[in-house]
Amino acid sequence: MLNSDALPYVAKIVDSMAVSTRTLASVIASIPTSDGAGVKLRRSLGARSTLRVDPFLMLDEFGTDNPDDYIGGFPPHPHRGFETVTYMLDGHMRHEDHMGNVGDLTPGGVQWMTAGRGIIHSELPQQADGRMRGFQLWINLPSAEKMKPATYRDIPADDIPLAKITGGTVKVIAGTFHGNDTITGPISGLTTEPLFFDVCLDKDTVFEHGLTATHSAFVYAYEGQVEVGPEDSALTLPRQAAGVLTPGDAVRLKALADTRVIVLAGKPINEPVEQQGPFVMNTRKEIEQAISDYRDGTLATVARKE
Ligand code: FE2
Repeated sequence: MLNSDALPYVAKIVDSMAVSTRTLASVIASIPTSDGAGVKLRRSLGARSTLRVDPFLMLDEFGTDNPDDYIGGFPPHPHRGFETVTYMLDGHMRHEDHMGNVGDLTPGGVQWMTAGRGIIHSELPQQADGRMRGFQLWINLPSAEKMKPATYRDIPADDIPLAKITGGTVKVIAGTFHGNDTITGPISGLTTEPLFFDVCLDKDTVFEHGLTATHSAFVYAYEGQVEVGPEDSALTLPRQAAGVLTPGDAVRLKALADTRVIVLAGKPINEPVEQQGPFVMNTRKEIEQAISDYRDGTLATVARKE
């Protein structure tokens, strides 16, 4: 039975069931910098300690046709307390680490490395000329996992599913894509539940996808340009800038040109972050321990693979 007094209540239920589309909360511009042995890149998240989107700590985009900008690569260096994700678009790098892992980073491939208690690795270009382009993303680990053993996965392009959508494609690197088919990427089962899509859109294509309401999210257009948010109030995101999204349960992007945009979401860790260079822990004392362990050779203690 439904009487007139009940109507507003019904309306409220319907309203609360409506999808709330996220819009831009803030924009983190990328700034030119260099890392490793002089590799030139653009850093958005992580350019300052306040510019993080928990659980994401840093996003670097590298892209150049000039070998002088990348030829030095990243000679051996340590990490502790988080994960690094390298996504190659163009070029060829070789990863080696203290555990004996060797990985070839080739176009379209992903390297997912969990530093845990410690890893020492290098990433060196395997080309003397040509284009080098891609991303490195740092994802934090919760305190309970910061000291777990290091792991490494090299995921070639062929192992990363590509979903076709009207007016584009979605490369599903991590998390699950819900379209005509449900497609789960090769990375799953992590505490931070990362979603990582590389979305390619023809001009004027609208891309909409559900996001877990409690997860942090941002988008980064590296080619073309997108507007972000509900159709009636969408905001334009500059190219090569991280657009941090408001809370809500869906993302909506419209391509203002032929566009490539990465979409990232993850479960916030909500713990203190103490970072010094390649070490990301919860307290200053833990950072000092990491530095001390690196100096005395105990940071990376996993036996080398035969
Ligand atoms: Fe590294």
